[in-house]
Amino acid sequence: MSNINQSGSFTLGDYSVKRLGYGAMQLAGPGVFGPPKDHETALAVLRAAVAAGVDHIDTSDFYGPHVTNRLIREALHPYRDDLVIVTKIGARRGTDASWLPAFSREELTQAVHDNLRNLGLDVLDVVNLRIMLDVHGPAEGSIEAPLTILADLQRQGLVRHIGLSNVTAKQIAEGRGITEIVCVQNQYNLAHRADDTLIDELARDGIAYVPFFPLGGFSPLQSSTLSDVAARLKATPMQVALAWLLQRAPNILLIPGTSSLEHLQQNLAAAGLVLPKNEIAELDRIAGVGAA
Ligand SMILES: NC(=O)c1ccc[n+]([C@@H]2O[C@H](COP(=O)([O-])OP(=O)(O)OC[C@H]3O[C@@H](n4cnc5c(N)ncnc54)[C@H](OP(=O)(O)O)[C@@H]3O)[C@@H](O)[C@H]2O)c1
Repeated sequence: MSNINQSGSFTLGDYSVKRLGYGAMQLAGPGVFGPPKDHETALAVLRAAVAAGVDHIDTSDFYGPHVTNRLIREALHPYRDDLVIVTKIGARRGTDASWLPAFSREELTQAVHDNLRNLGLDVLDVVNLRIMLDVHGPAEGSIEAPLTILADLQRQGLVRHIGLSNVTAKQIAEGRGITEIVCVQNQYNLAHRADDTLIDELARDGIAYVPFFPLGGFSPLQSSTLSDVAARLKATPMQVALAWLLQRAPNILLIPGTSSLEHLQQNLAAAGLVLPKNEIAELDRIAGVGAA
């Protein structure tokens, strides 16, 4: 029986959340566009996550668009007091499902109001500004203009905390000069470790690091090393990938995404999986880290 309390907890601004949460993006239709393939299962996944103790859900109004937020509201509203919903703004969807930047004052303001309405909230707990200088990965460039607009919306009382997504260390430093940054959400997993140094720096400053694609994203991680370690530990490869992240740094919060009740239960059970040092060393070799 899984107990996600075993994952421990970490702070997100003035909230404390369990380190094993849930990412809602996979609930939208194919390509994160349109309605889910099975509406009732999508609601059941959300309810099962919260019933199992998940108190941190990651979402955005540009998933669908509007689809995952409305599912969250339908499944879980009125929300439990301890549930922290983290959303993100800065992108919009083209009619062809493309991901486009949306950084004007009008677009950012509209995005905050869309999230409030579709989630059924008066204040958003945490809003990540998703930087789109390069949609596929962090790219240098000032984030001052859009972050100042989001900080204005925070001052108006619409947003409690602010985070950054798809950013470089330089952009995080620039952001922290403008407003408090409580979390960073970049791509990271045991095969994609560009942020190793950044994670440790953020840990020292008490800032949460929330890896997106913790399981590899649209093409889940596949590695014979990962499968071998999982077989030895009598776990699944995805559980090992999550346990590795939990042991990687104390400020890592997990938001694995799934549209499947079975996968959800498997992922939550990773909270209780402890990886011995020799297995971690072997997993580190997947990304060429710590190789002898
Ligand atoms: N800030 C950003 O730019 C950004 C970008 C992408 C995502 N995100 C956030 O990060 C969250 C996590 O990312 P993600 O969902 O894209 O990727 P992910 O968590 O790395 O992986 C999701 C994929 O893994 C599969 N999966 C999940 N659990 C599994 C299991 N136990 N066994 C086998 N397959 C499993 C899912 O398919 P099934 O549905 O079949 O389980 C799905 O294909 C998202 O929900 C979203 O909130 C943020």
